[in-house]
Amino acid sequence: MLSFTECERKLQSSLSIERYIHTMGVVKEAKKMALKYGVDEKKAAMAALLHDCAKDYPADMKRRFCKEFHVDVDEIMLETIDLTHAFLGAEVARREYGVEDEEILSAIKYHTTGKPDMTLMEKIIFISDYIEEGRKKFDTLEESRRLAYEDIDKAMAFILKNTIEYVKERKRTLHPLSVEAYEYYKKYEEE
Ligand SMILES: [Fe+2]
Ligand SMILES: [Fe+2]
Repeated sequence: MLSFTECERKLQSSLSIERYIHTMGVVKEAKKMALKYGVDEKKAAMAALLHDCAKDYPADMKRRFCKEFHVDVDEIMLETIDLTHAFLGAEVARREYGVEDEEILSAIKYHTTGKPDMTLMEKIIFISDYIEEGRKKFDTLEESRRLAYEDIDKAMAFILKNTIEYVKERKRTLHPLSVEAYEYYKKYEEE
């Protein structure tokens, strides 16, 4: 595995400035959450650093690499090509950045859709991506930030619910994994 600094340097050539700034915001948030929830801070920082490593690849490159690397993306992801960036990102982290740690890799893989019964590391990256300091203000941001440090499963339920509503309102493609994730986490919803 490359060091954090080596990864950071390598990553700069694959990300736009805006995405790089967002990424560093996620790193900062993930470290904070890792400390709060007793998760390995270095691993959380690495997962955060690489979570969007494939996001700025052009669409045809995403498609080609998904095929070449045998990434287990489905038809829905391929139709909404941006949805592949998380699954593909995990594979790029493994192949290009030498990450072997499955905890890091699965946190990258599920940072967009979520899934039922996630590990603490997966939840930390999912939530940090949503609440990092650079996010432009939106209605549910402050409440998400509060819940993130109060009750991580409530935060998952809240963010998944709002993400699903947001995607539906804009008539964008909702991935079934997000629905399954919400079905799982809604038991933690605030009364
Ligand atoms: Fe992402
Ligand atoms: Fe992101």
